[in-house]
Amino acid sequence: MSAAGSAAHHETAYDQRRLRQWLAGEARADGVTRRRLLTLLAATAVVGGLPAAGPARAADASVVKPLPPEWFVRRGTNAETRWDALRGTGHHTPNELFFVRNHTATPVLDAADWRLRLWGDGLRGRPAEGRPVEFGYDDLRALPSTTRTAFVECAGNGRSHYATQQGETATGTAWTLGAVGVARWRGVRLSHVLRRAGLSAHAVDVQPRGLDAEYVSGGENLGRVRRPLPLGKALDDVLLAYEMNGEPLPYDHGYPVRVLVPSWVGIASVKWVGDIQVSAQPLYSPWNTTFYRLFGPAHPEEGSAPLTRQTVKSAFELASGASFPVGEEQVLHGRSWSGAGGVVRVDVSTDGGASWRRARLHDRPRSGTWTRWSLPWTPTAPGPAHLLARATDTAGRTQPDTTVFNTQGYLFDAVVRHPVTVV
Ligand code: MTE
Repeated sequence: MSAAGSAAHHETAYDQRRLRQWLAGEARADGVTRRRLLTLLAATAVVGGLPAAGPARAADASVVKPLPPEWFVRRGTNAETRWDALRGTGHHTPNELFFVRNHTATPVLDAADWRLRLWGDGLRGRPAEGRPVEFGYDDLRALPSTTRTAFVECAGNGRSHYATQQGETATGTAWTLGAVGVARWRGVRLSHVLRRAGLSAHAVDVQPRGLDAEYVSGGENLGRVRRPLPLGKALDDVLLAYEMNGEPLPYDHGYPVRVLVPSWVGIASVKWVGDIQVSAQPLYSPWNTTFYRLFGPAHPEEGSAPLTRQTVKSAFELASGASFPVGEEQVLHGRSWSGAGGVVRVDVSTDGGASWRRARLHDRPRSGTWTRWSLPWTPTAPGPAHLLARATDTAGRTQPDTTVFNTQGYLFDAVVRHPVTVV
């Protein structure tokens, strides 16, 4: 082979490796579209016989797991669970069905190389001298573990209903109600790790940061996903989770370790956590200033306080537009949840809100997770209809008829009108 030919050969091999790294989220591609890179990847795979590199990805490469259209609606880099797909699943959402919210793309990380670094002036000793305390995956797994059931829900879940029910246009992903899931999480209490790292009496904020790519919004690089958590919450019930429903965390849900902040907006539950800043001063990031506060005519100009707990919501385990035969008894199923306590009561209307009946609850109301419920219904007249469900939690919060608008469409808690057809 000529020198030129040999150089070309090397460049081909290197290019394959580089593209594989990009596929695994390990290479930067500034100014090149995903479509262009996928075209290159496809060409290399055909010409060069690209060896399999980790798990195969969906077409746009932002999510690793399969996203069959009968289970998910794709929304950009995210995937919304279809509520009809949850029918017949148990209390916990199966990992394969769990919604995915990615600011960029799932990084495929190796637990053997993973380290969690704790640093900042809210720690005593080594970190105060600029040397972080480190934990490896096996170190964390060797610590006492805690298991708990909790939902993860995007603050923007239900956002599209500001438009469909209230005629108000919000920015952000147009979720219906499928940006929520419940899992059994196993991990180590964050409080335990913070204390082992030398938590100081001066610490006030704790900021976990993800290992996924830097997030660019409106042409501005906002850095890696990170959001401060007040120390009170961090020491209360927060987990560094490494298992989801009895399995190691799937890649898309934060493998090898994610933060799990029960009852709070999903952004607090940072996936693929790589470091945690422990600070003696309050911290700010775009995720507690620009995002995840309420802005709009009914809110202060600088926005509300940073969002914490989720509001009350309900959903039917039905497709939008589901059809029912007239005169046949049905059993309607659904789930309701709240960030302020367990759901103790659900009222359902099958006539667009004119009359209400109390649903039968199938779970003992517990904080941080949903209550499943059901109600028999025999449709009497053919034509379009709306099903409504209104939940009340242990804190006495009940879903309202309308939600006060905010420009980014967070925390939609109004009763949702679920369209169906009687045939
Ligand atoms: N953590 C990192 N590192 N990167 C992200 O994009 N998205 C957040 C949160 N943690 C995100 C993250 C948001 S907005 C939500 S709603 C949840 O993860 C979604 O968790 P899931 O994808 O496991 O359902």
